[in-house]
Amino acid sequence: MNDIGAVEQLRPDGRLRHLLTLEGLPRRLLEELLERAQSFVRAPGERFPANDLLAGITVVNLFTEPSTRTRVSFELAAKRLGAQVVNLEVQLSSRAKGESMLDTVYTLQALHTDVLVIREAEVGVLGLVASNVAPQVSVLSAGEAHIAHPTQGLLDALTVRQRKKHFEPLSIAIVGDIRHSRVARSAYHAFRALGVSDLRIVAPPAFMPEADEFTGATRFGTLKTGLKDADVVMMLRIQKERMTQASLPDGDRYFAKFGLTPERLALAKPDAIVMHPQPMNRGIEIASDVADGAQSAIRDQVRNGVAVRMAVLAAVVRPASERA
Ligand code: CP
Repeated sequence: MNDIGAVEQLRPDGRLRHLLTLEGLPRRLLEELLERAQSFVRAPGERFPANDLLAGITVVNLFTEPSTRTRVSFELAAKRLGAQVVNLEVQLSSRAKGESMLDTVYTLQALHTDVLVIREAEVGVLGLVASNVAPQVSVLSAGEAHIAHPTQGLLDALTVRQRKKHFEPLSIAIVGDIRHSRVARSAYHAFRALGVSDLRIVAPPAFMPEADEFTGATRFGTLKTGLKDADVVMMLRIQKERMTQASLPDGDRYFAKFGLTPERLALAKPDAIVMHPQPMNRGIEIASDVADGAQSAIRDQVRNGVAVRMAVLAAVVRPASERA
């Protein structure tokens, strides 16, 4: 299955056209994206060589939810490949006057947009857009409600691959507000497809997903059991915006049971890495000395975001020879 609703993500020749979810994408394609992304990774301070792979291509960022990392890294990725980039300020666009998402998209399409990067709080809007755009336009998810954040899943997989080399023998624990997390869902699909043998989800009952989700992952109700001998500990943000005020846990009580402290991290393997997609709530999900500590791969995740988004943009845009 490589479609979301009625949307086929792959072209007839197997190449990627849209990226709305990692669910059902072939392992080969994920590995190719990770390999390509790795070729775009640069050390801190190293310059990006000029690259015109996306010359003549226009990428529009259309974010209806807040973002720092995803939005900036999509913009940098597109510019580093030579594309023109437009960031549509949704609050200042005609959407604020009631224009529908599809009418906005048709307008951007008429202005020769080639790639639409969309972050959207409402489930199904990305699929609707992808199934209505012209054949030359690609749609990339920058995060859809609690459903999917595919480039985050790829950058998480790239970060694990850099530190641990092979996916199969790993024990990966995803911890926290899994129920409301698009990051957890995309990481789960990536790690399953890439062959991780021991995938765990660790959460209080209110943050556990429905029983028919995360199949094949083992469920744990405590960090003491869930982190034991883990190779990777992936912490999640509490998604306040996706729950009512009444259902929000108290920060101190949550930290007391599910916050990642140095003592709890010691339950995992000595060389375990710590991840968090950010933004993070320090002192609620994770202690600062863990977030900024020697085992943290959190800044690698951010750095890898640009490389992964470059790889995805390069994959969906047809080669210049075909475009001519
Ligand atoms: N991880 C992530 O999606 O961060 P932003 O919300 O800042 O884009």
